[in-house]
Amino acid sequence: MKILAIETSCDETAIAILECSSDPSKGEQDASFIVLGNALLSQIEIHKKYGGVFPALAKREHAKNLVHILEAALEEAELLHEDTQAIPEEMRAKISEILAREPGLSEAFFAFVSECEPPAIDAIAVTAGPGLEPALWVGINFAKALALIWNKPLVAVNHMEGHILAALASERSDINISFQGRTLEIQNVEMPVLALLISGGHTELVVMKKWLEYERIGQTRDDAVGEAFDKVARMLALPYPGGPEISKLAESVRSLDFRNPTSDVGFRKSHTFKLPRPMINDATCDFSFAGLKTAVLYLVRDLPDISENDKKHMAHEFENAVADVLWEKTSRALEKTGARTLVIGGGVSANTHIRRVFMHFVDTKCPQVELRIPTAALTTDNAIMIALAGYYRALRREFKTDFSANGNLPLA
Ligand code: KG4
Ligand code: ZN
Repeated sequence: MKILAIETSCDETAIAILECSSDPSKGEQDASFIVLGNALLSQIEIHKKYGGVFPALAKREHAKNLVHILEAALEEAELLHEDTQAIPEEMRAKISEILAREPGLSEAFFAFVSECEPPAIDAIAVTAGPGLEPALWVGINFAKALALIWNKPLVAVNHMEGHILAALASERSDINISFQGRTLEIQNVEMPVLALLISGGHTELVVMKKWLEYERIGQTRDDAVGEAFDKVARMLALPYPGGPEISKLAESVRSLDFRNPTSDVGFRKSHTFKLPRPMINDATCDFSFAGLKTAVLYLVRDLPDISENDKKHMAHEFENAVADVLWEKTSRALEKTGARTLVIGGGVSANTHIRRVFMHFVDTKCPQVELRIPTAALTTDNAIMIALAGYYRALRREFKTDFSANGNLPLA
């Protein structure tokens, strides 16, 4: 089954086309995926000036770029064939109505579809939430218009399910190259699966006892962990998005440890600053990052002026605090759920130190658990993960034509 997937939930405009297949004798979970085409445009440079993602601006950029991204993905998949298509008046009117709230998109859409054959795909998948609603709507309306004109079934995908499946699917090697032609596999997943989802908008622990059925067992009571990274980065006058910037500074402190081969490389505590580990001893699997963020604010405020060295050590201690809390809560959730597989998904799972801490502790403390972390290129938002989720939902024939963007779409 060929799935064309569209992702516009935040500041990435992405379309991927995957050839998906499963062996019915092996059950629903086991599947393999060949990436036929994958086009992605990040808006980071545009949002950098504002220190964060501006929803109205994200929406405008998606509308401006979707047709180019579609063309690039189809071309890479060798599914783009020029041909003049007549569009009946009634169809044109319906599509104009669907795209009425996406200025500029409808002209580009008609120009494109009237000059190419409907591609040989079997279904279209699109992110329906969670995310920024104005941004989600552009992708959804675009997908609805394509489904209508090409007469393809449409699947609404939960973005967080995409993150979970990308983590389950990816190899653990870190080859950050174009995905075209690469095969991903979801095989031998031992249930239950515990997922730690950490992104700009989410921090939650979700357990999957039955395939694609979720139960949330913990969540943040205030800020998401990615949001905390981004806000702390702003306090330290680092550019957006803050996660990678904090990580760079923190790693530069840790690398000093490499001079001493017997040191606990990467795990050394900061002696310069001390930050709290909020809720670390609390019995729930919930998180809180607002207090940690405020603690950084007070440290910054109390320094007469902040040197580059102070910034490095603050980033180091902040990242240590985050990783400590994430691990402690996850280990509690592993005990509670008896999970056999642990996945980490969402943009923050790109973080080197968090990956290192999880690999180390799963290895030493929970060797019965298999840890799956996505390859770097699959951790941040992309459309490949939406195609994975879209495939399983299409297998279940969960097709819909009428659905809305839901900024808070729950998994469970
Ligand atoms: O999943 P994602 O791409 O978008 C959302 O759905 O939110 O996650 C984006 C978040 C941002 O807050 C960004 O700062 C964070 O992921 N992030 C990182 C790293 N790379 C991205 N945080 C910590 N370390 C990183 N290396
Ligand atoms: Zn995401």
